[in-house]
Order: sequence, then structure tokens, then C-alpha cells
Amino acid sequence: MSSEMPVIDPGNHPRPGPTIAIAITGASGAIYATRTLAALLARGTHVEVVVSDYGRRLLRDELGEGASVDRLMSFLEEKYGAEVSAGRLTLHSNRDLGATIASGSHGCRGMAIVPCSMKTLAGVAHGLSRNLVERAADVMLKERRALVIVPRETPMSLPQLRNMVLCAEAGAMILPAMPAFYQMPRTLDDLADFMAGKILSALGFDHELYPPWTGQVPS
Ligand SMILES: Cc1cc2nc3c(=O)[nH]c(=O)nc-3n(C[C@H](O)[C@H](O)[C@H](O)COP(=O)(O)O)c2cc1C
Repeated sequence: MSSEMPVIDPGNHPRPGPTIAIAITGASGAIYATRTLAALLARGTHVEVVVSDYGRRLLRDELGEGASVDRLMSFLEEKYGAEVSAGRLTLHSNRDLGATIASGSHGCRGMAIVPCSMKTLAGVAHGLSRNLVERAADVMLKERRALVIVPRETPMSLPQLRNMVLCAEAGAMILPAMPAFYQMPRTLDDLADFMAGKILSALGFDHELYPPWTGQVPS
């Protein structure tokens, strides 16, 4: 190397934070999605969000009009604190199959579908790519990147169970919306913290959303 070449210290250059896709579909448990979004944003993540039509409805039905998609960032700031502004939220239309996350060439590190309806689960299991949620999930699978599916339904039919197996065989992590009770949750937010923590762990993030198990239930 020529001695005249400028020495570049990579440490002096800002590096873009990781990009994660979050899809919200029409299953019960919108609070799991908002808690996950807030936790990712608070750690400076760029989150690319896509919400299905019924996902939009469930956000409003379960969390109130303030949680409508066009007001999502202010809802997150109000409910979870100003720290969420450390990250960046980009909203994509579920009809836009030309969005960044529809392509494997886009550097999206991983994706969670939270909550995941049985309809979207079926679409992902069969590689249908009928909308951006399904296409982005398909991209994660074909690129061998992290895809976390948080299904919610009870009871489940045999086709639904089989669709979970298909997704797991294709490389997705099935992380059912099943919060634990040994952490002694007192509020709905405690339950949401637990699920969001599990999702962050599955995407490779450290977090303090619930205390690690110590061998004894907390007093
Ligand atoms: C209030 C409400 C709650 C619902 N809860 C669930 C659910 O927990 N799981 C599920 O698979 N579908 C649920 N559905 C049905 C889905 O929203 C419906 O199948 C929808 O077509 C899913 O479309 P999407 O996957 O594009 O969001 C619910 C619908 C409504 C209106």
C-alpha cells in the first residue's frame, strides 16, 4: 500500500444500524407488535413495517384509535417513551411488491410477523407472495435469514399445524404467542414484554425485557 494513501479508521465512520422488518397481521395480540417495535426502535434499529388490512383493524380494535397506522410513531412514543425516537420507522404498503423488503438484495437482516394470522401463515407456508408481508417472508426464507413467526389461534386445525411445520422446515422460527407465567406478570404490558423479549432474542438482540431465569420464581 502506498504511504500516500489516506488511513481510514473504520471506527470514525458512522455505521448504519441493522434493518429489521416487522409485519403486523390480523391475529389477536397487537400489543405484542407495538412492544416489539418500541424495543427495536429504542435500540436505534431501522424498522421497516408492513401492516395487513386486518392488522390495521386489530391495532385499532385492541389498542384504540391512537394506535392507527398513520399515528403509530406518536402512539409508540406516548406508550413506551421518547427513547423510541432513537430508531427509524419506515412504513410500507402491503400492496407494494416493489418495496425494499421485497428484494433479497436489500440488507434487511431479519423479520418477525407479529402477530401472525393463520391466513398469512398459510401464505408463507406455501410461498404464495400475494402481498408484501408474504413476499418479504419468502425473501427471508430464500436468503436464509431470520424469519420469526408469532402465530395466534386456538384451537388449531390440522392444516394450521401443518403450515407451522412447513414454515419450520423451510427455516422459520415458530414462536407462538404464549407468554409464560413464572415471571409473575401483573399487567398486559408484562405479558407483552415477555413476548417482545423472546422475539428480540430470536432476532439476535440482547434485551432486558424480562429478567433471566435464576432457578426460582421472582419474589
Ligand atoms: C377481532 C378479530 C380477531 C381475530 N383474531 C384472529 C386470530 O387470533 N388468529 C387468526 O388467525 N385470525 C384472526 N382473525 C381473522 C383474521 O383477521 C382474518 O383471517 C384475516 O383475513 C387475516 O388476514 P391477514 O393475514 O392479511 O391479516 C381475527 C379477526 C378479527 C376481526
